[in-house]
Amino acid sequence: MDLSELRQSYTKGSFSEQDLLASPFEQFEKWFQQAMDSQLEEPNAMCLATVSKDGQPSTRIVLLKDFSDKGMTFYTNYESRKSVEIEATGKVAANFLWLPLQRQVNVTGRVERVSKSESLKYFLSRPFGSQLGAWTSPQSKVITSRSVLETKLDQMKRKFAEGKVPLPDHWGGYRIVPDSFEFWQGRPNRLHDRFVYRKDEASQWFTERLAP
Ligand SMILES: Cc1cc2nc3c(=O)[nH]c(=O)nc-3n(C[C@H](O)[C@H](O)[C@H](O)COP(=O)(O)O)c2cc1C
Repeated sequence: MDLSELRQSYTKGSFSEQDLLASPFEQFEKWFQQAMDSQLEEPNAMCLATVSKDGQPSTRIVLLKDFSDKGMTFYTNYESRKSVEIEATGKVAANFLWLPLQRQVNVTGRVERVSKSESLKYFLSRPFGSQLGAWTSPQSKVITSRSVLETKLDQMKRKFAEGKVPLPDHWGGYRIVPDSFEFWQGRPNRLHDRFVYRKDEASQWFTERLAP
């Protein structure tokens, strides 16, 4: 399949030194709000990269559920492949692609578990079916058939028929504590606008323009 003619020119916007807000968190919030306002699907979907102990990267989509100047939180199974890699390295990268705006944001940073109480608060806000799903799926493990999940789901439905579904020990949030943010706006002739925020020795954010 020859895809060499599959290309678009990026003409929807520009991003310059004057547009940059002092805090990357404020900048992220501004772009995130614009992504929400443009009605694109799942603006909080991010591609999360982890690395195994032997240096093999892997990626998957997770949903951003909270962000503030403390960091960016997502929820997952603590025994999944991503979690095993996070626990071993303490580091991730994440990418938001907002294609209708011809924008991407790249984040790198360290990761910490959110508190049990924060995970519980979010867990209790989830629909009953998703709560059962967290108890049912041994995420990332090999299973012999779909019926393994369906049988386990029936068991969980019976087990938790009465009362609240408790937070599983193997499920909760991770907070990415960013050490860099890159904001990318597509421009014509592949001469895109890129700005990176990093921290100086005094832990103050500074920005630099990167070549596209
Ligand atoms: C749109 C979308 C949203 C997803 N959100 C999450 C999420 O928030 N948490 C999660 O654990 N998996 C989520 N997944 C599934 C993951 O992409 C992935 O398949 C799963 O977490 C197992 O990844 P791992 O085996 O690399 O750990 C989502 C998938 C898609 C396509």
